[in-house]
Amino acid sequence: MNSLVVVGTGWGDEGKGKITDYLSNKFDVCVRYQGGNNAGHTIKFDNKHFALNLIPSGIFNPKTINILSNGMVIDLSVLVKEINSLIDQGINCQNLYISNRAHILFPYHIELDEAFENLKGDNRVGTTKRGIGPCYIDKYMRIGIRFGDLLNKDSFYEKLSLNVDYANKILSLFGNKIFDKDKIFNKYTSYIDTIKSKIIDTSVFITNSLNENKNVIFEGAQGIMLCLDHGTYPYVTSSSPSASSVALNCGISPQYIQKVLGITKAYSTRVGEGAFPTEIFCETSKKIRKIGNEYGTTTGRERRIGWLDTVILKHGKRVSGITNLAVTLLDVLTGFDKLKICVAYNLDGKKIEFIPSTIEEFSRCEPIYIELDGWMEDITQIKSFDDLPDNAKKYIKTIELTTGIKISIISVGPNRNQTIEI
Ligand code: GDP
Ligand code: IMO
Ligand code: MG
Repeated sequence: MNSLVVVGTGWGDEGKGKITDYLSNKFDVCVRYQGGNNAGHTIKFDNKHFALNLIPSGIFNPKTINILSNGMVIDLSVLVKEINSLIDQGINCQNLYISNRAHILFPYHIELDEAFENLKGDNRVGTTKRGIGPCYIDKYMRIGIRFGDLLNKDSFYEKLSLNVDYANKILSLFGNKIFDKDKIFNKYTSYIDTIKSKIIDTSVFITNSLNENKNVIFEGAQGIMLCLDHGTYPYVTSSSPSASSVALNCGISPQYIQKVLGITKAYSTRVGEGAFPTEIFCETSKKIRKIGNEYGTTTGRERRIGWLDTVILKHGKRVSGITNLAVTLLDVLTGFDKLKICVAYNLDGKKIEFIPSTIEEFSRCEPIYIELDGWMEDITQIKSFDDLPDNAKKYIKTIELTTGIKISIISVGPNRNQTIEI
């Protein structure tokens, strides 16, 4: 068993970055497998604080090779800034590679994201406006430009010209800003020297590493509820964070994927629009937002808050093969008399334990809760499960019993060392 997938179980921001960084010293290779800089992964250790958007969270372990896979859409200007900022902070980026099949995200994708959201009006998704959807649209339209294309300047110019003309036609329909292909060409070819040596066939690299029995960790972005296929469509992102997408998104055989660590907060959050059955609006949600610092890493937006939803965890177990869970931000639930966990939904008078396929039905789901007693003790310095307050242990055991998934990690603070392994 030499691979592990780290996947968010909810609507993102579950603490994937923290857990991937924590685990990375056990792994030779760390691969980000989808999404782009819509992600924001926070890592804290030794009084240092990093927020990564594109680079895998294994970058802080000098021995780990970090890979941006073919499944990603990568804003090259953001990547170059992120590399330079890490180098400025003393982090070595020599061990960073990019798939020659990963798609490049250009400035016109960002403008198109804005235009499409405006067009949707009240039905907007509430995207991060980083151009993610439009870049994946180009991939599926079979006009996308990939990192391998960047290395041949003539054909890169040809492909870029066609795409800029095409994007400008759409943008002018909306009255949005249009783009100058030469300016983009000059800017993007100026990055070649910085990244040329990093562009490789990552499918070959990862497969060889697995065959040599090296340990590989696959880090997802977003979460299963934002999955294009299995999330709360259409309020989702444009890729598949589910672990089942790892093989395709990394160019490896599915036989290598056996262990899937689902990352869940001890409660639920969501940024952007879309139904959220366990969402709460009260003093408790305000307190959780404040203590948990629930503001988006990428956009700074207030995160919506709700109780933990085990229907969602069971959904993740089925569609994403979750074998183990890490429960994060358990410390944030300290100080509440009562805590609730959703165990099923009431949909139009019927009890269900799955996520309905339409957003209309999902919006009508009323959570069925069990209530548990809370705990008052500070748990942020606790290092073992046995030392947790009894009610915190009961909370964890209830999640295990309700979902049938083993909990192997509990996180009690944002720092690397505030982690309990069971
Ligand atoms: P990701 O996108 O899944 O990597 O998660 P984010 O980094 O966007 O959001 C998680 C937030 O929770 C970050 O601010 C982390 O520093 C913080 N965090 C992670 N684990 C814990 C924890 O156990 N307790 C607390 N209080 N904060 C945590
Ligand atoms: P990490 O990896 C939280 C949400 C957006 C929006 C929807 C679609 O940090 O967990 P997009 O820009 O992808 O087209 O937006 O998805 N979203 C995230 N929410 N964490 C993320 O990433 C997210 N990435 C996208 O808010 O609702
Ligand atoms: Mg995040």
